Amino acid sequence: MPQTNQAALDFLLTRRSRPAKMLRAPAPDDDALRVLLTAAARAPDHGKLEPWRFIVLRDRALVRLADAAAARATALGRSEDDIAKARGPFDDSPLCVAVVESPRDSDKIPAIEQTYSTGAVCLALLNAALASGWGASWISGWVSHDRTFAEDTLGLAPHERVAGLIHIGTESATPPERPRPDIDAITTWMSE
Ligand SMILES: Cc1cc2nc3c(=O)[nH]c(=O)nc-3n(C[C@H](O)[C@H](O)[C@H](O)COP(=O)(O)O)c2cc1C
Repeated sequence: MPQTNQAALDFLLTRRSRPAKMLRAPAPDDDALRVLLTAAARAPDHGKLEPWRFIVLRDRALVRLADAAAARATALGRSEDDIAKARGPFDDSPLCVAVVESPRDSDKIPAIEQTYSTGAVCLALLNAALASGWGASWISGWVSHDRTFAEDTLGLAPHERVAGLIHIGTESATPPERPRPDIDAITTWMSE
């Protein structure tokens, strides 16, 4: 029988996100965050293409993003509620890491596999933060899919996109558990 890493398994069986609006300072400093980014960058990556990169946002960068998100929502004629929702996560959380999918040209590795790898990086970063005792959440929000915001505010190239905004901080309240999938309903067991 394999040797179980019970602590790691217990973590995976109980982990859950903390809503970005519940996150407060302190957040991990740059040294602590580097450890989390190192864990995230161990995500499976077919062909070792590294089709992803990180943008670390804190302090005045978060203020700039909040203002830019609100300005973009206003320019698009969005409602007051939408404007507040667009800037809210950048106003509330003390640290945000944008995980950027930066696909590589490859004859061998399909683009969709690079997308899956980038999603794996997002989850690995989220889990590394949670395992370290931080509150953390993976959100997107419509602004991260807006090309003007992505390119003019975050500095993405035209072929890049935001896969996730991982907000990290100290949880101010523990959210209730949410319903989890029925494994029997989503699993087909094949032995022949
Ligand atoms: C790609 C992606 C984008 C998401 N975007 C948002 C979002 O914009 N706003 C939001 O409230 N939740 C968003 N969520 C959901 C949150 O991550 C939510 O906290 C999560 O489903 C909770 O799961 P957990 O408790 O199992 O970690 C997103 C999730 C994923 C995977």
